[in-house]
Amino acid sequence: MFYYILHLINQTIDTSRKLTNKSIMIIMLAELPETHQILRQTCRDYADRELAPIAAKLDKEHLYPTKQIKELGSMGVMAMEVPEELGGAGMDYLAYSLAVEEISRGCASTGVIVSVNNSLYIGPILKFGTEEQKKQWITPFTTGEKVGCFALSEPGNGSDAGAASTVARQEGDEWVLNGTKAWITNSWDASATVVFATTDKKLKHKGISAFLIPMPHPGLSLGKKEDKLGIKASSTANIILEDCRIPLGNMLGPRGAGFKIAMQTLDSGRIGIASQALGIAQASLDCAADYAHKRIAFGAPIGKLQAIQFKLADMALAIESARLLTWKASLLRDSKKPFSKEAAMGKLAASEAATFCSHQAIQILGGMGYVTDMPAERHYRDARITEIYEGTSEIQRLVIAGQLLKEYQP
Ligand SMILES: Cc1cc2nc3c(=O)[nH]c(=O)nc-3n(C[C@H](O)[C@H](O)[C@H](O)COP(=O)(O)OP(=O)(O)OC[C@H]3O[C@@H](n4cnc5c(N)ncnc54)[C@H](O)[C@@H]3O)c2cc1C
Ligand SMILES: *[C@@H]1O[C@H](CO)[C@@H](O)[C@H](O)[C@H]1NC(C)=O
Ligand SMILES: *[C@@H]1O[C@H](CO)[C@@H](O)[C@H](O)[C@H]1NC(C)=O
Ligand SMILES: *[C@@H]1O[C@H](CO)[C@@H](O)[C@H](O)[C@H]1NC(C)=O
Repeated sequence: MFYYILHLINQTIDTSRKLTNKSIMIIMLAELPETHQILRQTCRDYADRELAPIAAKLDKEHLYPTKQIKELGSMGVMAMEVPEELGGAGMDYLAYSLAVEEISRGCASTGVIVSVNNSLYIGPILKFGTEEQKKQWITPFTTGEKVGCFALSEPGNGSDAGAASTVARQEGDEWVLNGTKAWITNSWDASATVVFATTDKKLKHKGISAFLIPMPHPGLSLGKKEDKLGIKASSTANIILEDCRIPLGNMLGPRGAGFKIAMQTLDSGRIGIASQALGIAQASLDCAADYAHKRIAFGAPIGKLQAIQFKLADMALAIESARLLTWKASLLRDSKKPFSKEAAMGKLAASEAATFCSHQAIQILGGMGYVTDMPAERHYRDARITEIYEGTSEIQRLVIAGQLLKEYQP
């Protein structure tokens, strides 16, 4: 295969099209940097050896991959962007994206567990935490086996996260939290969570603040484990807060900055979900292309049929274009440039590619696509969530259009 290195340069402003900000041009050449190639290969080998063979069992029995998450932790993959002095791998977001894609290619549930620990749990602490909070909540507070979670959505509001109604009231030297957070990935397996709650209801979304809560903790309980269509090896449940008391120092970032923290965290998180989706899409193509060579119909491999070839070509096209968008978003983030629009584009393109490719793979496999003997049906179920969490496809379109219209402001 042929890889690309992407260079970011500032282009001159195209006044004829009234662009008000500087555009970024990307030139595609040669190969990924060597460190990234090695990381990608290491994660690919690990996924082939340790994840792909057990993914069906984890899915069927809803088993959390305890041993594998621990191993990925020792490989540095669970805290990719965390500086080495805080116990992380000290790598960039492109590396993180490559790792999540390869892991998700083997097991998409493991992919989301990795993505939530990195983007949604560590991400906001690294960016908004004090030095003391970083030491306490990032440098392993457990044996390194546990993961963190991110609690923003509520039963009554998901896309409209600014309407969150969980309250945090100050009583003496404590915050007291009340409310229910919904759909929280990793909740059954986590040892800490970032929680969003309103400290000033009148201010609406500007009254939301972020908090750090260890798990388990008095006043914090979990709802039932949701019985999902896919990503069944990752846990999803409500987090219920009833007079949950935490020290004042557990507020993350300034009071009222919670909504901003959540939105910025999701901008980065979307690169993780795009990468998860790419892994699922690639696994679907791998499975379908391999089958096309082997399956004989009408006396020849079905890969000789143009109808099958066109499906494979469209799958490869969807994957490669979504991957370039996702890499572009990572590179913009790594070079400290705005990347919100590109992250939304990457997530939208990759999640739709995952849904499309997993659908086509089942078609290419025929009856074998519909049974659990082959991984195609699992890819199809796992793909669907990537169009829903960390912002639905509709919300990604709103983010893209919002940025776009700003660029075209007369
Ligand atoms: C398996 C799973 C794991 C999850 N993990 C987490 C987690 O770890 N942490 C967390 O905080 N949340 C998590 N979520 C919640 C997830 O982010 C929300 O489900 C998602 O944001 C959508 O919110 P909703 O379900 O309330 O749907 P709604 O917001 O009610 O949306 C319903 C429909 O209306 C559309 N819609 C809503 N508003 C608009 C609009 N303005 N314009 C156009 N269309 C719109 C939506 O796109 C969707 O099609 C998870 C969800 C699932 C299913
Ligand atoms: C998840 O991230 C936290 C914070 O950096 C870390 O302490 C923990 O060890 C990570 N989990 C694993 C399994 O490595
Ligand atoms: C948000 O959802 C909660 C239930 O989870 C509900 O009580 C609250 O009224 C909702 N907020 C708004 C502004 O609708
Ligand atoms: C939390 O809810 C309980 C009832 O469940 C109530 O007694 C208490 O006053 C509430 N606390 C806050 C801080 O809103």
